[in-house]
Amino acid sequence: MRSADFIRETLDDLKARGLYRRLVALGSAAGPHVEIGGRTVLQFASNNYLGLANDPRVKEAARAALERWGWGAGASRLVAGHTEAHARLEADLAAFKHTEAALVFPTGYMTNLGVVTALVGRGDTVIMDRANHASLYDAVRLAGAALVRYPQADAGAAGRLLEKHRGAAGRRMLVTDTVFSMDGRCAPLTELAELCRRENCMLLLDEAHATGVLGPTGAGLAEELGIAEGITAGVGTLSKALGGIGGFVAASRDVCDLVVNRARPFIYTTALPAAACEAARAALRIVRSEPGGRRRLLDLSKRLRTRLLEEGFDIGAEKPGASVSTPIVPIILGGPERALAFAAALLEGGIFCPAIRPPTVPPGTSRLRISLTVEHTEDDMERLLSALARIRC
Ligand SMILES: Cc1ncc(COP(=O)(O)O)c(C=O)c1O
Repeated sequence: MRSADFIRETLDDLKARGLYRRLVALGSAAGPHVEIGGRTVLQFASNNYLGLANDPRVKEAARAALERWGWGAGASRLVAGHTEAHARLEADLAAFKHTEAALVFPTGYMTNLGVVTALVGRGDTVIMDRANHASLYDAVRLAGAALVRYPQADAGAAGRLLEKHRGAAGRRMLVTDTVFSMDGRCAPLTELAELCRRENCMLLLDEAHATGVLGPTGAGLAEELGIAEGITAGVGTLSKALGGIGGFVAASRDVCDLVVNRARPFIYTTALPAAACEAARAALRIVRSEPGGRRRLLDLSKRLRTRLLEEGFDIGAEKPGASVSTPIVPIILGGPERALAFAAALLEGGIFCPAIRPPTVPPGTSRLRISLTVEHTEDDMERLLSALARIRC
């Protein structure tokens, strides 16, 4: 097939199956109300859970750093792109996560690529939760390790896989998101950590959606559940609750040194701008000193879950009674066309909550992924609920 035909046919096929994606340009800053095509709409689509992307204190930190350091870092970390701002942020992140060291990357996606490829390679086995983020799948592929998967949040199945691969020649590593990005469900971390300890297996946690949101100081689900031992490395992002850009790994000094020396996604890319580091430090200070915001957010999320269930919506496995609440609430709708129709009707009514479809979620589970932020009000939630009830009729 000629390449032009291949491109056109692939795009046509995606359109025919309701899986074609297009960009929507916002005309305003991240917040509960955003401008799309000149119209202001209420949005439930952002991971800016604590509203820090547009917080004056974070913006001021970025502005001051911009004046001091300029914009671009100009080189990779190991060449000339590492600044005192990076070092200070890494010290703050290590203190936040109670680890010996931390290391920042330009994105969370790259952090997962870097950490996985540093810790495993050909001949090793990665035991993964099936619902893990795409970056973890890509990371295992890049590492060349064998991949075995267990059903979402199924610690029993994870245990059986660990046993099955006990005699494997290479290393074993269990990898899980702590809060699953597309349904807000939590991993059974206490059981998984105990399994890994018993089996002497490495444990890598992706705390992208838990960072800043869960735990007494906002450090994530491991902190929320009081798990201090047995975690080989914890990945987080600066891009979601912390409102900026970048990712980080928090681990022992040796693990971080190994990443610096072996991880190609760390070595062969330009450093995060110093201004992004200083903005992240300001965001981190707010997370640690203002726990009230995340409590309000998680309360609102619990109420939304309860109301959606009462209205008969399928919100997946995590029910309001779950011990840990998260700001991500799915409404599972089935085929992609149905999810697209819901999203389009919401937008027509002034609410932005795009459809999430395969391959981001498994076939037959296309959904609306409602993400709440601390800036949403009770009235915003009521508006969403009334719109959903109207659309379903
Ligand atoms: C679970 C999880 N891990 C990693 C990432 C990647 O983070 P970033 O957006 O900072 O690259 C995401 C982002 O969507 C995520 O949901």
